[in-house]
Amino acid sequence: MQTRTLGKNGPQVSAIGLGCMGISDFYGPSDNKSSLKLLKDAVEMGVTFFDTADMYGVGANESLVGFALRKVRSQVFLATKFGNMRRLDGAHLGVNGRPEYVLAACEQSLKRLGVETIDLYYQHRVDPTVPIEETVGAMAELVKAGKVRFLGLSEAGASTIRRAHKVHPITALQTELSLWTRDAQGDILATTRELGIGFVAYSPLGRGFLTGAISQPSDFAPGDFRAVNPRMSGENFEHNLKLVRSVEVMAREKGVTTAQLALAWVLAQGTDIVPIPGTRRLKYLQENLAAAEILLTDDELSHLSELVPQGSVAGTRYDETGMKRLGI
Ligand SMILES: NC(=O)c1ccc[n+]([C@@H]2O[C@H](COP(=O)([O-])OP(=O)(O)OC[C@H]3O[C@@H](n4cnc5c(N)ncnc54)[C@H](OP(=O)(O)O)[C@@H]3O)[C@@H](O)[C@H]2O)c1
Repeated sequence: MQTRTLGKNGPQVSAIGLGCMGISDFYGPSDNKSSLKLLKDAVEMGVTFFDTADMYGVGANESLVGFALRKVRSQVFLATKFGNMRRLDGAHLGVNGRPEYVLAACEQSLKRLGVETIDLYYQHRVDPTVPIEETVGAMAELVKAGKVRFLGLSEAGASTIRRAHKVHPITALQTELSLWTRDAQGDILATTRELGIGFVAYSPLGRGFLTGAISQPSDFAPGDFRAVNPRMSGENFEHNLKLVRSVEVMAREKGVTTAQLALAWVLAQGTDIVPIPGTRRLKYLQENLAAAEILLTDDELSHLSELVPQGSVAGTRYDETGMKRLGI
């Protein structure tokens, strides 16, 4: 497995990480036994970068990931996040970036993960009611105390990233980036590149839609969050599927899968970018990791951009409430 550096002089991680959210939450059912096996298989296949968050499965995902990786702790780079508060039944209770909350949330994550140190600790969403300097100040205390090694932000706006970076170096920004979500390629990537911050691309497969594996709304299991996602419901579903079908044709011609083409596109956007596709299945994991070996020519990259031109996707990436939490 190839590696990439997270930020200037930052840690080395596998060029493709594993997003662990879907094995506990949001995308339909899964079982612990196969999830544990998948996590162990990922390590054997060379994945060193694992992404979780305290909100995934309301803590269950951190517990599962920590348990699966406990024997290989020193070989892996564990990233988790705080800030999205949830009730035990899953209801979202808002965003919290208050210093005392940051410290308490970290203690809980350390306990669930069963580790002494978190490698990369992100603020999951910026709390608009708390100055970023205060939140990052508390995160910096965690570094000083040896509870966290590197700091990250998720879905923060350019000026927030700059302010945060003045308080303590930010190692990575985790934000959505894929063929159909290229908003970060303006101000945000220019800022992370100027400051030497790594970019972790989440939902690089468009939450599964860009793989071509979802062909009708009934493909979603009951409770799957995507069934009500603006891009994957109503009239937008058919519109967006046509875009994916055109990528499928190109993938077939190139002899790769649609998922691999989508991932290769993300990887080609810069060596500072590390995608973290999520999956519950070994077959997809193997397929996704193999995408690191696919090189796209300039002509192929332009052709892909023409197939899914910026702004061609119908629907926002989150509902109205979710959209309000982005880019602060
Ligand atoms: N910071 C944030 O706010 C934020 C938000 C969302 C996600 N994330 C992180 O980013 C990670 C990845 O994002 P994501 O899981 O939302 O979306 P994603 O990686 O774009 O897509 C995951 C979906 O694609 C399917 N899939 C994966 N590989 C496939 C393949 N080769 N062929 C066909 N289908 C395939 C998976 O199916 P199966 O599950 O059935 O295998 C799953 O439903 C998450 O796990 C999480 O760690 C962060």
